[in-house]
This record gives sequence, C-alpha cells and structure tokens, in this order.
Amino acid sequence: MPALALSVTDIGEKRQPAPLTYKKWAYVLGSALLIWFALGFYKTSPAVVTNFKTSSSAPKCPTSPKFEIKEHEQIQYILHDEGFRNKSAEIFGRALQVATVVYDVMPDYSEFAKFHEYLEKHFPLVYKTAKVHKVNQYGLVFEFAGTNPDLKPIMLTAHQDTVPIGDPSDWSEDPFSGRYDGKEVHGRGASDCKNLLVGLMEAMEKFIEDEKADFKRGVLLAFGFDEEKSGFDGARKIGEYLVDYLGKDSVFFIVDEGPNMCTETMGDYYAMLITGEKGYVDLIANIVTPGGHSSLPKDHTSIGMMSYFLTSYEDEMYQSVLPDQNPLLNTLECAAEQGHLPEAIRSVALSARDNSVAKEKLIEYIEQDWLLKYNIRTSQAVDIVYGGDKSNSLPRNVTAYINHRIAYGNSVDTVFHKALKYAKMTAKKFDIGLTFHGRTIFPVTENGLMVLDYFGELLNPAATTPVWGDAWDTLTGHMRAFYEEEVYPGKFHVGAEQNYIIAPSVMTPNTDTRHYWDLTGNIFKSTPGVSNLFDYMPHGPDEAIDMDSHLNVIAFYYNFFASALNQ
Ligand SMILES: *[C@@H]1O[C@H](CO)[C@@H](O)[C@H](O)[C@H]1NC(C)=O
Ligand SMILES: *[C@@H]1O[C@H](CO)[C@@H](O)[C@H](O)[C@H]1NC(C)=O
Repeated sequence: MPALALSVTDIGEKRQPAPLTYKKWAYVLGSALLIWFALGFYKTSPAVVTNFKTSSSAPKCPTSPKFEIKEHEQIQYILHDEGFRNKSAEIFGRALQVATVVYDVMPDYSEFAKFHEYLEKHFPLVYKTAKVHKVNQYGLVFEFAGTNPDLKPIMLTAHQDTVPIGDPSDWSEDPFSGRYDGKEVHGRGASDCKNLLVGLMEAMEKFIEDEKADFKRGVLLAFGFDEEKSGFDGARKIGEYLVDYLGKDSVFFIVDEGPNMCTETMGDYYAMLITGEKGYVDLIANIVTPGGHSSLPKDHTSIGMMSYFLTSYEDEMYQSVLPDQNPLLNTLECAAEQGHLPEAIRSVALSARDNSVAKEKLIEYIEQDWLLKYNIRTSQAVDIVYGGDKSNSLPRNVTAYINHRIAYGNSVDTVFHKALKYAKMTAKKFDIGLTFHGRTIFPVTENGLMVLDYFGELLNPAATTPVWGDAWDTLTGHMRAFYEEEVYPGKFHVGAEQNYIIAPSVMTPNTDTRHYWDLTGNIFKSTPGVSNLFDYMPHGPDEAIDMDSHLNVIAFYYNFFASALNQ
C-alpha cells in the first residue's frame, strides 16, 4: 500500500521510506489512527457545526480501576538496570539471527528447528517447568497449570515467523544481524514480533528463576509459525489442538500482538487496544468465450466483458456503516471523552450511539479521511487480471481476483449480493451464461459463460470482545497501573495536561487469533511498548525496535504473572 508508505515518510524522518507490505499488518487501524493523529487530520473540523448534547453523563469510555502493582522493584530493575538491559538485548538479538522467514508457498519449515534450539538454550527453566506441547511439529504451547481449576487460563500469543527481507540492497545492514546499538535492536522480526515472543519468554524465565511460578490461574504461551501467511499450519492447528485438549471456551482471554500499549499522539498517550477485526473474502471471476481470429471478432471479447464487469463493480462503493458494535465508535468516544478532540467532533462522537443524526454526521466525518473510512466500509480491490493468448487471436478465458475486507454491519453475503448483481448485469448485457459457486444462474450460451466463485476462507467480521467485562478490566487495569505508576509515574495525575487513554479499536487485517475463536470470546491485541511502531518498519527494510519497548514487554508481563495469575 504505497500511500501508507508515503505517510510513514511524513512521520518518521529518521528512516528511508519503503513499501510496507499490506498483507497483514496487524496494526493497520491502530496505525491509521496514529497517522491520522500524527498528521493532524483530526484538527480539521468536519463540515458540521451542530453541537449535540449527550443524553447521559455516564462515561462511554470503558476505564477500569487500576490493579495494585505487585512487583514494583522488579519492574524498575528490568526497565532501568543497565546490566539487565545489555543481557536482554543480547538474548533478543540472537533470536533475530535465526531466520524464520515464511513465503506464500512453504515446502518445509525445517529452519524453524534452529529457532527451537535457540529457545531451549536461552530459556531452560521455561522448558523444564512448563508442559511443552509441540503442535504440528513447530507450533509451541508452553502450559503452566494453575492450582485453582475453577479459574480459566490466560493465553498469551505471538508468532515465530517473519516476512521475507525483500530486496537485500534496501537494507543498510545484514537483515539478520540482531545488532544492538545501545538504543535499538536491528533485524527482521525485531518489531513483528520476536520482540513480543522473546519478551514473554524472558519474563517467564526470570519469574521462574525468582521462584515465583506457582500460579493460581494457569497461563499458556502459544506461538504459531506461519502467521504471515495466514496461520493455517501453525495457529489453526494449535487452536484445534487446544479445543481438543482443554475444551471450547476454556480460556479466560487471549492477548496477541498489536499496537504498542502506550504511544504519545494527539496530545495524549494512547493504547489502541484491538477488540475486533474486519471480515475477509476473495472472489474469482472467469469469462470464457469461443476464440477465433482477431480479423473477425464479436463486438466484445471476453476481456472487454470482464472490463465492463470490473469497472461497474468498482464504481459502486460499499456503503459506509457504523453499527454500535464497531470498535471504531469506542475509539472515537474515548478520544472525545478523555483526549483532545475539537468540540464539534467531540459532541458528535459522544452522541452517535444514541442519536442517528449525530451518527450520520460522524460517518460523514470519517468518510473524509481515506485512512479511517475503510474501518466503516467494506473494501474492494481488483488485485489480479489475466487473459489473452496472442496479439492476433481472440482471448478465450479471462480471470480476475477481487479481495474484500468486510466492515462491521456487512457480511460475506453483502459481498456475494453485490458481486452477483454486477455479474448478472454483465451476463445479460453480453448474452452469456452465469454460474455462481457451481450453481447455474443463466445457462451457458453460444457467446460464452461467466463463472463467479470465491476461494479460501470466508470470514465475517470477528465477534467483538466485550469491553466492560472481567477480561477487559483485568487486562486494562494492569496496563493502567503499569504505565501510570511505573513507566511514567506522576505524569497522568488528575488534572494533568495529558492522559493515558486505553481505547478499544478495530483493525482491517487478520492475525492468528481467528484460529482461536473457539477458545474464548475475549481476544485483545496489544504489545507492551512506548514507541510509535511506524518508526520501526515492520515488514520493511531496516526493521528494528527500541530496547525500552522490548523491556516493557518483560516488565509488564513479569508483574502481570505475579498479579493477574494470583488473584
Ligand atoms: C552495557 O553495554 C554498553 C555497550 O552497549 C557498555 O558500554 C556498558 O558498560 C554495559 N553495561 C553493563 C553494566 O554491562
Ligand atoms: C479458465 O481459467 C481458470 C483460471 O486459470 C481455470 O480455473 C478455468 O478452469 C478455465 N476455464 C476454462 C473453461 O478453460
């Protein structure tokens, strides 16, 4: 997505722009919002002046009470001791030296055995203490059972794999150097997401070493190995295995990779805590016509017919929809209530849930911003077209692929419905037959046939994680305590200029967690850290992460183990 790369250049002066592969990256809404904030778009008032009165004074942003910090001294030691920092940078750097790249087609994953050797060597206590489940050979689940069987375990996830390095000449150093320069650690996977995986292992290793690992509530550390190519070999198998082993709905909540927990932006500090993700469907269309010599063509060739289908399909945008369950609404409510939004937007955001006029205004406002609008609109992208054989013979078979990310309020059926509308129009116009997923809509004619189908997985938008419940309170109560009292003590006092705002959020692509839907309805995505991840080029060349953010992972989870697993 080149435009995204453009925005990256605008924000981070220190790194060269490079195309971010848009295939997944986790944080696209989080990041869309961050870019939106960083570039100051939020300051442009929408074309509305009405001030809406909110109907109730009850807070809309789900702010939980803080948990008492259990490990103040260890947190401070982890965050600030130079010896610990150096040792951690060394261990983390070694993880980046083991290439665990996945490609779209993976004949075998044997390189991952080296990563397992690395883990066994550096985290011996974790291997000794946990029950280690190897799922589909390279999937890893470290199980620490709790002493109270009534408490469902918490599952913390990350992935072992990384995207490829791209063109090596774009990198200013060896992509697998794992070099620590005193501030940052460099290499493929540094920010997506070996920082999280290794940080979780470091936190647990130290926790066991400090003889604290007798948990009331169990914990699972689960690491897939092909997240970057959809997780079918790793997370999918881990999910099935754990449903067999523990049962459905057997996990309290899951925390997966996501935007950093505390990023300064828009005059405040935000955690865009992901609680929902868009759906997904790929369509494929073929038009097959009789061939022949180009000197005696029909009025339209299969390429012309396909062009008609694609351009008319593209001309109709999916309608923007903002049902209450879209976490984007929560994001804007939190920003309105606790942050620095201009008054006009603020009142519209706070009234949108109860007032349909306000909601329409809010939709209009979101639509003005290309980074935000796809969080309320199903996207369509014609990504591949091929057809034609020779410059002087008529094309026979033309094929096109269209990718969609489905917004809350739409479903897979919304896409099928629209695709069929234009396919029927095309078939009628050119008098050809039409089938959809094997079903005949119009019989084949002598002019040809259009075949419309989908392939791969059909995903409706994810069920959103509830934001006022126990799981939300447990996670965010620990986040607040950690950032407000340990990382930035004294900064976010009552009446301070800046707040720490934990806002439910949505993302446009999917991560491994869609394979875990049967384990829990409480899925969050967020990674401890203080940087703006767009400074660190996930998927781009010169990927890195700041050591402060890496140490946040270790310190946050060290305290979390002591506290959340012993309540
Ligand atoms: C940590 O590493 C730096 C070099 O990056 C070195 O200058 C410093 O002395 C080391 N500190 C400790 C306590 O090992
Ligand atoms: C047309 O091409 C598609 C994609 O390559 C293929 O799946 C399909 O079988 C072809 N149809 C015919 C009639 O050749």
